[in-house]
Amino acid sequence: MATSVLLVGSGLIGRSWAMLFASGGFRVKLFDIEQQQITNALENIRKEVKALEQSGSLKGSLSAEQQLSLITGCSNIQEAVEGAMHIQECVPEDLALKKKVFAQLDGIISDDVVLSSSTSCLLPSQLFAGLVHVKQCIVAHPVNPPYYVPLVELVPHPETAPATVDRTHALMQKIGQSPVRVLREVDGFVLNRLQYAVISEAWRLVQEGIVSPNDLDLVMSHGLGLRYAFIGPLETMHLNAEGMLSYCNRYGESMKHVLKTFGPIPEFSGATVEKIHQAMCVKVPDDPEHLAARRQWRDQCLMSIAKLKSQMPSQ
Ligand code: NAI
Repeated sequence: MATSVLLVGSGLIGRSWAMLFASGGFRVKLFDIEQQQITNALENIRKEVKALEQSGSLKGSLSAEQQLSLITGCSNIQEAVEGAMHIQECVPEDLALKKKVFAQLDGIISDDVVLSSSTSCLLPSQLFAGLVHVKQCIVAHPVNPPYYVPLVELVPHPETAPATVDRTHALMQKIGQSPVRVLREVDGFVLNRLQYAVISEAWRLVQEGIVSPNDLDLVMSHGLGLRYAFIGPLETMHLNAEGMLSYCNRYGESMKHVLKTFGPIPEFSGATVEKIHQAMCVKVPDDPEHLAARRQWRDQCLMSIAKLKSQMPSQ
């Protein structure tokens, strides 16, 4: 029998995890406090997995039907934890709610299961404080949409056992995700710290009238972002001179000069938010239909780039 994974919460992220684990051949149980959410999740996953198979984008070596047969719903938490070697919590981003869920799981799990949270920004020390099974607890933060963006940030609690991190790392690799180890917890983990640094400077540049909102986005989508899909900022430095030492020698002083001119943290309100909102709405009106259509287009682009990346020779 295939090894079993339990997802607690069957919303957007729980469904994505379910598809990823099934693509890796794992038996998946989807638990939720709302029976209707489980029903909707199973229907939605069936549709998506079938569509992915038809477009040739289904992950893993199993057929759509084989993957779907691995996923079941369960509305009894005692039954749900039975046989699970990995539990991935995917309930809403609310510290009190997540702590309640972990306290409940802590009372019924065995000593050899990994208890993992999908939280985007709550710290492991807040989430797992005082749990009996704290050594088995970790944050595994996916990026939306996880089926096309493989990064997973692994963030341990100070008391998490190294074996828990290693097991989760291996599991993520097994389902085709790209795990990174965040060695110590920090607000925003790594991805959101980088993202917020970019957003912050983007905002200031528009606020100061240096560039229009649309041109700002073009700088990323037609400029920086293209190479960042393949190499990160540090390797970019290494390649843009005769290695990292040469880059820092050549450009260190000018980088510091520019960095000293950066302004304070933006308020994200007032006239600038109005200006950016208007510009965004010309491109994508903010009603549910237009937003959904644009997200679908974005996901198709991400799917194509994921395919391209998998076909590129690795060096
Ligand atoms: P969602 O709102 O789509 O789904 C949450 C699900 O949890 C719902 O089905 C709800 O019925 C269920 N739930 C509520 N209380 C529960 C309980 N006590 N036990 C079991 N199930 C319960 O939320 P979403 O977007 O899937 O987010 C889940 C987690 O993933 C959050 O911590 C979020 O920060 C994180 N995350 C979300 C991303 C996103 O882009 N949506 C990206 C990365 C992480």
